[in-house]
Amino acid sequence: MTNRSGKGALITGASAGLGEAFARLLAAEGHDVMLVARRTERLQALADELSATHGVRAIVCTLDLSVVGSAAQVQAAAESADFQVDILINNAGLAEPVSFLNLPVDNVRAMIEVMITGLTELTHRFAQGMADRGWGRIINVSSLSAFAPNSPGMLYTGIKSYVLNISQALDMQLKPSGVHVTALCPGFTWTEFHDTQGTREWANQLPAFAWQDAPTVVKAGWEAVTRGEPVCVPGVVNKAVASFTKHLPERLRYLFGKHARMVH
Ligand SMILES: NC(=O)c1ccc[n+]([C@@H]2O[C@H](COP(=O)([O-])OP(=O)(O)OC[C@H]3O[C@@H](n4cnc5c(N)ncnc54)[C@H](OP(=O)(O)O)[C@@H]3O)[C@@H](O)[C@H]2O)c1
Repeated sequence: MTNRSGKGALITGASAGLGEAFARLLAAEGHDVMLVARRTERLQALADELSATHGVRAIVCTLDLSVVGSAAQVQAAAESADFQVDILINNAGLAEPVSFLNLPVDNVRAMIEVMITGLTELTHRFAQGMADRGWGRIINVSSLSAFAPNSPGMLYTGIKSYVLNISQALDMQLKPSGVHVTALCPGFTWTEFHDTQGTREWANQLPAFAWQDAPTVVKAGWEAVTRGEPVCVPGVVNKAVASFTKHLPERLRYLFGKHARMVH
């Protein structure tokens, strides 16, 4: 397989927010990019811009990652485009403003498919090649919420805890082969995320210091995976929150979480 310049980076959820910021950062560093999401027009516009600006190869793969089998389709698309994946950014994600029993089971399945099954399967499909070649970088986008107490009926936190946990396990196995795996755990980040999940009004009430912008978050994540850090919590405020919440006694975490009202 041939990449034109640098390494080949596959980025899921590249049509907006953190995924778009990852694509911009990696293309600016001279890496070819393969952009995956559902909104083709956005992906194509970004791909055209990145290849014109940075002279890298930028290709588009329009897929709904909530559909069973989509990870195999991503791999097939990479192979048919002769695109070698050295860098994998498992970023696509979503949350629902509705708690477990009020959420249609198809939405439950979609969240798990995109953020657990898809992420895990894409890693499995591409990590072996990276290990065989002796070099690879994988960033799995988790969340600060993975450290926080959960709240009633919230599926998202459990999913992001899985992402944090499995990323550490994979880093332990893969690092001796030259493949670094990092769980990137952003706090509140200015993207479309809170519009899509319907929590913008709630989120807007948070103080400005609680927020980061997407380029700052992805830069921290990329530097962390480069250094071989298995977990990256970007920003001083988020680091303080993570270290406070993860050290709370279990009973207190439960009580805190029980009275939080993130979803209805
Ligand atoms: N923003 C925050 O405050 C925050 C905090 C912590 C963690 N995160 C995590 O960061 C990651 C990126 O989120 P973001 O903030 O950049 O949100 P965003 O602006 O809403 O972008 C989400 C991306 O995921 C893609 N996506 C969603 N469902 C998909 C599906 N079924 N198939 C393919 N692609 C899909 C979207 O593309 P299409 O709609 O075009 O398919 C979009 O490119 C997520 O994993 C999120 O959980 C975000």
